[in-house]
Amino acid sequence: MDAIECILKRRSIRRYKPEPLVEGDLERIIELASWAPSWANSQCVRYVAITGSRKAQLAEFLGQGSKALAVSQAPVVLAVCAIHGKSGVLPGRPDNDKGDAWTYFDCGGAVQTLCLAAFALGYGTLQIGAFDYQGAAQLLDIPSDMELVELVAVGFADIDAAAPARLTVAELLDHRN
Ligand SMILES: Cc1cc2nc3c(=O)[nH]c(=O)nc-3n(C[C@H](O)[C@H](O)[C@H](O)COP(=O)(O)O)c2cc1C
Repeated sequence: MDAIECILKRRSIRRYKPEPLVEGDLERIIELASWAPSWANSQCVRYVAITGSRKAQLAEFLGQGSKALAVSQAPVVLAVCAIHGKSGVLPGRPDNDKGDAWTYFDCGGAVQTLCLAAFALGYGTLQIGAFDYQGAAQLLDIPSDMELVELVAVGFADIDAAAPARLTVAELLDHRN
């Protein structure tokens, strides 16, 4: 699969087969995600892999619906965590007024890289931002120097997800000469 096919065909997957990831693939996905760019290569993103009974408990913090089903079914859910104070704050160089927002920017780049890497290896993913962060962070024993930012379900897709429409290039792109 080339990069363009990977970008175009990756979809958010909300139904998963019960099969586990092939041994070593989780580590490969995280290694590939580590190649995402980050502010001054500060690499503020960390991952906690959730499986087993803790995953079933986690689903309770997602309410009803497709995202809770995805967390229940997917063999692995990754808790994406950020270490604040690394991104956007480089001593000796000009900072800018976006400040700590660069932390979340770096998380986005890392997670997109992770989702594309997982897809290239044959897996579906779902990014989940809407859940009870405080409850989930407590359940997962997220260290106090990290913030739980997002969940990502990973597993073999059990659905052919349709592609939601995108804005056109004309809507997205403006020019200045
Ligand atoms: C930051 C972020 C948070 C998201 N949170 C959720 C979520 O809580 N529940 C959900 O079902 N999908 C969630 N999604 C998936 C989006 O709904 C999905 O990416 C979008 O509809 C486009 O579909 P596609 O990924 O198949 O191209 C999230 C995506 C992103 C990038």
